[in-house]
Amino acid sequence: MRMFIAGATGAVGRRLVPLALRAGHRVTGMTRSEDKAGELRAAGAEAAVADALDRAAVVTAVAKAAPEVVVHQLTALSLFSNMRRFDREFEATNLRRTQGTTNLVAAAQASGARRLVAQSFAGWPYARTGGLVKTEDDELDPDPAVKFRGTLEAICYLEHTVLTAEGIEGAVLRYGWFYGPGTSLGAGGKYLEVIRRRQFPIIGDGTGVWSFIHIDDVASATLAAIERGVAGVYNIVDDEPAPVAEWLPFLASAIGAAPPRHIPAWLGRPLIGEHGLMLMNEARGASNSKAKRELGWQPRYASWHEGFRTGLGD
Ligand SMILES: NC(=O)c1ccc[n+]([C@@H]2O[C@H](COP(=O)([O-])OP(=O)(O)OC[C@H]3O[C@@H](n4cnc5c(N)ncnc54)[C@H](OP(=O)(O)O)[C@@H]3O)[C@@H](O)[C@H]2O)c1
Repeated sequence: MRMFIAGATGAVGRRLVPLALRAGHRVTGMTRSEDKAGELRAAGAEAAVADALDRAAVVTAVAKAAPEVVVHQLTALSLFSNMRRFDREFEATNLRRTQGTTNLVAAAQASGARRLVAQSFAGWPYARTGGLVKTEDDELDPDPAVKFRGTLEAICYLEHTVLTAEGIEGAVLRYGWFYGPGTSLGAGGKYLEVIRRRQFPIIGDGTGVWSFIHIDDVASATLAAIERGVAGVYNIVDDEPAPVAEWLPFLASAIGAAPPRHIPAWLGRPLIGEHGLMLMNEARGASNSKAKRELGWQPRYASWHEGFRTGLGD
């Protein structure tokens, strides 16, 4: 199969490209950087140097690759560092989820590609009411914290645009929180270091539920979605949604750090904002039943317990 991967050099792309090549597919990876284009070619892929925000450049790059499937893994999260400024820090990612999606859909349509598979997120976007573990049929948060609004709008735009694109079968993969090599929760990653320094406290009761996914399971689920030709929304998460108060001390212990500190919500609010408190105390996890059933996919790390112990590094 011929595929065009936008975001081929990011956390997902670095695991997905080699997996797809090993499976015998022809891959064109997009990047803005000549150096990274060289790395893609050295790995056995073809490379397209283009800016996702430049529609003409994307249309030309996708047309040249003539793929059956276009894969959208564009974000701009490498520099994310300040939870209090979440809205500002997500502006560039939101642009890739709006304008970037519009450009990729147009390019896919113009090139005659049949399908588009795009990255979305399972976690705080789900409504903070009802069950603690959400399926793809559950509603998204109708009243998100103010600093989450622009990002949720961009996520909804991406999902709607991909799912309704004329002439294209669209699949939206709502990934859980990434961990593992090349992510900020992997060996050498910045959040592991923050946890090691005890600068990632539990603020409030830590009842917010998070669903994790190892980065290699992100890659295998994405390849399964590409190969199966499914359309619709899929949660790509592990089997064990868990509250912050459970996974954070376990992760700290797994990396040999002291347990996280506990801070009451009123004291922590100025540090992480209302949206941060939501993540800590109200977020919902997600179910992977549909992905397992319809993609024929099983995560290698079904449990973050095992993944945090043995899967953080290469
Ligand atoms: N669900 C989750 O938990 C989740 C989801 C996403 C990311 N993250 C985390 O965020 C951190 C950063 O993610 P990342 O390593 O994937 O890096 P990133 O900086 O978010 O970049 C992702 C990819 O998008 C491409 N890209 C961005 N803007 C582009 C543009 N205008 N034109 C063409 N390509 C563009 C980049 O390509 P070039 O730079 O080569 O051009 C790169 O391949 C990681 O720690 C990751 O784990 C977490």
